[in-house]
Amino acid sequence: MLTITNLHTSYRGIHALRGVSLHVAQGEMVALIGSNGAGKSTLLNSISGVVKSGSGSISFDGAEITNISPWLTSRAGLIQVPEGRQIIPDLTVLENLEVGTTAVAGRPRRYELADVYELFPVLAERKAQFAGSLSGGQQQMLAIGRALMGSPRVLLLDEPSLGLAPLVIGQVFVALKRINQQGLTVLLVEQNARKALELTDRAYVLDQGAIVLEGPSAALAADSTMTAHYLGSVN
Ligand SMILES: Nc1ncnc2c1ncn2[C@@H]1O[C@H](COP(=O)(O)OP(=O)(O)OP(=O)(O)O)[C@@H](O)[C@H]1O
Ligand SMILES: [Mg+2]
Repeated sequence: MLTITNLHTSYRGIHALRGVSLHVAQGEMVALIGSNGAGKSTLLNSISGVVKSGSGSISFDGAEITNISPWLTSRAGLIQVPEGRQIIPDLTVLENLEVGTTAVAGRPRRYELADVYELFPVLAERKAQFAGSLSGGQQQMLAIGRALMGSPRVLLLDEPSLGLAPLVIGQVFVALKRINQQGLTVLLVEQNARKALELTDRAYVLDQGAIVLEGPSAALAADSTMTAHYLGSVN
């Protein structure tokens, strides 16, 4: 469904992606793992068109989408949950969710407000509250809910566990698993490699802008290079 071939992306002298190839099939949940500065956000931002790539290609459903504008990628159904959540603090929870619907753009609605509230009941309880007053975990749920309101065909998640307590990470990941099981295709970027491998079908490991390992998540979790370099200590 989403195919990236030999992608190179640079920022004035910093070669952030060095020939990345990756694919995500319909219905899959795929992890992209890597440490700080590996290029994970750059890859998601290249897919969504927020940053421009120098060479290589990105195709979505057979159509070439390399370097098209973020407005067009979101209307096509590539919906990103950005790093740091970026909810609008001065709007209510409900208003933030309504903002998400602008990406639907005539495509079939896959998620209604009731679906988002069912997935994250706390958002229903706090729908009239300013988003800025929510806890970090609730803001992450809101960011995911807002993306769902845009009727994603592929959900691009940038470090949804960042800064959250383990219990809350668990809640967010259970919700992500559920939406994938309901049929949504997901590309999950994470520094939390162990958790990401537990949750996903396949994974890629990005290191200094290049894919260094890839395969079924269960196999990678047991891989000796993976354990030595990317999984840290047990737990
Ligand atoms: N806007 C920018 N201008 C210049 N360099 C950038 C910019 N954004 C990222 N970089 C650089 O590109 C490289 C990849 O950064 P990127 O943010 O994609 O990594 P990341 O894997 O998402 O890291 P993190 O886990 O910290 O979010 C880093 O060397 C970073 O310093
Ligand atoms: Mg990042």
